Amino acid sequence: MTRITTVITRLAAALILSVGLAPLAGAEQQLLPQMEGATYIGEKACIECHGQEDSHVSDTLHVKMFRLNPKNATEKRVCEACHGPGSLHAKDKENKDLIIGFTRNWQTPQHLQNSMCLDCHKGGNRMHWEGSIHATNKLACSDCHNPMEKASVNSLLAKKSIVETCIQCHQQQRSEFMKRSHMPVLEGKMSCVDCHNPHGTVTKPLLKADSLNDVCYTCHAEKRGPFIWEHAPVRENCANCHQPHGSNQDKLLRVARPMLCSQCHFIGGANGNLSMAGPGATAAHLTGGLGGTAPNARMVGRSCQNCHPMIHGSNHPGGERFRR
Ligand code: HEC
Ligand code: HEC
Ligand code: HEC
Ligand code: HEC
Ligand code: HEC
Ligand code: HEC
Ligand code: HEC
Ligand code: HEC
Ligand code: HEC
Ligand code: HEC
Repeated sequence: MTRITTVITRLAAALILSVGLAPLAGAEQQLLPQMEGATYIGEKACIECHGQEDSHVSDTLHVKMFRLNPKNATEKRVCEACHGPGSLHAKDKENKDLIIGFTRNWQTPQHLQNSMCLDCHKGGNRMHWEGSIHATNKLACSDCHNPMEKASVNSLLAKKSIVETCIQCHQQQRSEFMKRSHMPVLEGKMSCVDCHNPHGTVTKPLLKADSLNDVCYTCHAEKRGPFIWEHAPVRENCANCHQPHGSNQDKLLRVARPMLCSQCHFIGGANGNLSMAGPGATAAHLTGGLGGTAPNARMVGRSCQNCHPMIHGSNHPGGERFRR
């Protein structure tokens, strides 16, 4: 028994060690098969024909670092660190199979393009890139990044800002941030990456925390509780009532009040606590304007919350039914 345990422990230790080292060792850069036998000819040769590209790439973080302070053999290759060995390309420049290109026009398969970048950038935020929805939809790193010029202040983005980079493809989300009530994303107070990691995550849809609620708690910590009186749908999922990007209802609500509450709560019926027919409750609700035909003043505006204000939960000893 003890021996088996020791063996298992050793195996586990070996596994942890190898997994732990993998990101440091990096992925392999994968080249096009036709590039077999190509050698590295150095940036001077590239610049002879690509002076134009050289003039704008010289301002970028990569090329500055690779030229001034290369940390390893790959970085010393400068252009060829990303584009692969160029000897065959220099001899036959029209042949698209002889150099790794990152433009759509050049048609290098996207997984080969990405392997060039992941060689240095595997792990960290890209831990879950493989299998992520962006990877399986065949996005290339260069759909969001342009290392050839400094279009954004940081992160070498393809567009001026993160939001502009994302809405190249996510137009619908852009219109959500223009609704009457919305997160201040287009105003520049926050951005898509406050909630999403575009490189892949374990939580769908590309959410940065272990659950949707955990994403919200990073900024709205007071909603985390714990509360003496918990409201079940809040603990379960903020999106039960809120639309995270934006909504035409007040406070990002999915549905206007009181319909928001009536989706789950009924007058009368035998539906346990979801029913509003408990002792003492029915009368209050009837005088409160529920169930009648004429609209009652108490049902306007915050409606149910005129009497149940602590809708996210209450820490008042007498806060049962979220009444204080
Ligand atoms: C003798 C001139 C010459 C040399 C040397 C040369 N290239 Fe090119 N390269 C070209 C030409 C011309 C094209 C465009 C071919 C076309 O569009 O059909 C090209 C295309 C490319 C492309 C694809 C551009 C795209 O549309 O995506 C890349 C990447 C590239 N070269 C990188 C390099 C690198 C890196 C080096 C140095 C290792 C290099 N080139 C050396 C002439 C050269
Ligand atoms: C950090 C990786 C990286 C380095 C270093 C790099 N490139 Fe690029 N290169 C790219 C990417 C990505 C693109 C595609 C940019 C885009 O989407 O337009 C590209 C595009 C190009 C193109 C196509 C024309 C264009 O500008 O879009 C040429 C030619 C080129 N690179 C040559 C070079 C040369 C020459 C060097 C060295 C002076 C170099 N690259 C250094 C990643 C790199
Ligand atoms: C030879 C290694 C190497 C390769 C290949 C490489 N990078 Fe980098 N990259 C670096 C280093 C070093 C930095 C500097 C910051 C750091 O250490 O993360 C960097 C920084 C970045 C940054 C952050 C820029 C900023 O302003 O903070 C982005 C984005 C990036 N790389 C994307 C790419 C993409 C996309 C590719 C492939 C087209 C690529 N890199 C290829 C080594 C590399
Ligand atoms: C869907 C868009 C998108 C794709 C695809 C994408 N990135 Fe990024 N990347 C971003 C954004 C946005 C940022 C800035 C994040 C921030 O500021 O927190 C970023 C930041 C980075 C950074 C710098 C900060 C960090 O996370 O270390 C690196 C390096 C990087 N990306 C590499 C890559 C590589 C390599 C690929 C391809 C495997 C890739 N990215 C694909 C959007 C993307
Ligand atoms: C080149 C196009 C493109 C760009 C740029 C892009 N995406 Fe996507 N994104 C897609 C595609 C394709 C899908 C999968 C299909 C879909 O759900 O629309 C997707 C899906 C998503 C999803 C949904 C995941 C799911 O599980 O349903 C999120 C979240 C997302 N992207 C966020 C971002 C963010 C944040 C950015 C900017 C940093 C970004 N995307 C940039 C193309 C893109
Ligand atoms: C305040 C956090 C937050 C911000 C900021 C944010 N998202 Fe989301 N996003 C979410 C949540 C939470 C979901 C899941 C919604 C659900 O399950 O009901 C989501 C869902 C998505 C989806 C999946 C389809 C959908 O709409 O449900 C896409 C695509 C997406 N977001 C893109 C973006 C883009 C692009 C940006 C920036 C322009 C962005 N998001 C900014 C929190 C955010
Ligand atoms: C990165 C920080 C951040 C995250 C994460 C975040 N929020 Fe917000 N939230 C804000 C800011 C900033 C405002 C605007 C406050 C203001 O304008 O006074 C806001 C406002 C709101 C509002 C009120 C809108 C209004 O009209 O007054 C609601 C509701 C809300 N957030 C819900 C959520 C939900 C649900 C999530 C999780 C999906 C979430 N938030 C995640 C920062 C965040
Ligand atoms: C049962 C429905 C419901 C659920 C679930 C819910 N909320 Fe709310 N939320 C509301 C209502 C209704 C309002 C408007 C309150 C008002 O007008 O006083 C609101 C308002 C807010 C506000 C703005 C006003 C304030 O109280 O700060 C934020 C922020 C907020 N909710 C965050 C969250 C977060 C985070 C979650 C998940 C932990 C969540 N909500 C879950 C119904 C809900
Ligand atoms: C997604 C469904 C859902 C929505 C929407 C919802 N609730 Fe609830 N509510 C519940 C559930 C589930 C419980 C817990 C019932 C239990 O404990 O058996 C609950 C409990 C309550 C209770 C306490 C009942 C008791 O017996 O302690 C009150 C009061 C209440 N909700 C009011 C509201 C109000 C007001 C709204 C609208 C702002 C609302 N609810 C929206 C599902 C919902
Ligand atoms: C005029 C004030 C008032 C209004 C408006 C009001 N309630 Fe109530 N509600 C009460 C009182 C009082 C109770 C009983 C509290 C108790 O017994 O502790 C109650 C109890 C409840 C209960 C628990 C029922 C039970 O069986 O114990 C639910 C669920 C509830 N209300 C939901 C709602 C919803 C949903 C709305 C809006 C559609 C609403 N209330 C509007 C005063 C009100």
